[in-house]
Amino acid sequence: MDMTIRPRRLRGNELLRKMVRETRVDASSLIYPIFIKEGSGIREEIPTMPGQYRYSIDRMGEKLQSLLDAGVSSVMFFGIPDHKDEVGSGAYAEDGIVQKALRQAKKEFPKMYLITDVCMCEYTSHGHCGVLCGETVDNDRTLELLAKTAVSHARAGADMVAPSDMMDGRVAAIRAALDAEGFLNVPIMSYAVKYASAFYGPFRDAAGSAPAFGDRKSYQMDYHNSREGIKEALLDVEEGADIIMVKPAMSYLDMVAKIKDLTDVPIASYSVSGEYAMIKAGAQLGYIDEEKIICETAISAFRAGCDIYLTYFAEEIATCIREGKIG
Ligand code: PBG
Repeated sequence: MDMTIRPRRLRGNELLRKMVRETRVDASSLIYPIFIKEGSGIREEIPTMPGQYRYSIDRMGEKLQSLLDAGVSSVMFFGIPDHKDEVGSGAYAEDGIVQKALRQAKKEFPKMYLITDVCMCEYTSHGHCGVLCGETVDNDRTLELLAKTAVSHARAGADMVAPSDMMDGRVAAIRAALDAEGFLNVPIMSYAVKYASAFYGPFRDAAGSAPAFGDRKSYQMDYHNSREGIKEALLDVEEGADIIMVKPAMSYLDMVAKIKDLTDVPIASYSVSGEYAMIKAGAQLGYIDEEKIICETAISAFRAGCDIYLTYFAEEIATCIREGKIG
């Protein structure tokens, strides 16, 4: 055979394969989403997310410590309040669940980087991501409350805030409010390209945040669209977003690749609850190899171009990196 170029030549040996690897990962890129609940002594498994738990503040330290031990130093807090109302007042309450968790985590784990999800849906009685006017979410009235929420998180110790509501103009509103309060250096990671997705199903069980009527299609994006995602991303960069997130991850990596080329900010992708649940269910049935699938899906997100990866498998991925299974 007369063949000069033989791609297999570079695949013949493990050391060589590692040498020519195009994607390298580090645990410092991982963010673990954690659910914090009012109460004490609670560590309850989330039925639709086996292996994931809701923690009360007094027990969240167990998970934060094991994350740190595995090499994961960043977490994103989601709050599950006791009380919900029409205007989601728990989201911006001084003694709200996330605010209390932040103060405790800052004290107990000063080395951790604390990020908060800024949204109303876990705190509103109707489960929508903003205040209602009739049956629609009132964009501009919601902005004030989101800004108030972000400021209250920063006051309680948040290192970064991450608005996930998909209201228009929220990045600018939050930036202005943070700056006015002196939080000039608290970055905003915007869930800029967030699709209305069935992959959030298990999360809504976990956080009790399913909308009481209708759906989120009037604010989250239609998954048929790609250019609209670019518009959202560029708009948020213009409004001052420091990091742009694409969500979900697995089915939306085309968007990660495109936005990476069009912006100069770091890109995050969020492997959401439904992605986690599918892997867990498939593995429990013995249909797939859990660890190998976790590694492969994580690398695919980085290969697509993400710089930051939010995942419920953060600890497992960090362990695989340390053991040299990926990297
Ligand atoms: C809040 C929010 C959601 C998720 C992150 N922030 C739920 C939603 O938009 O319905 C989903 C995370 C996941 O599914 O893991 N708006």
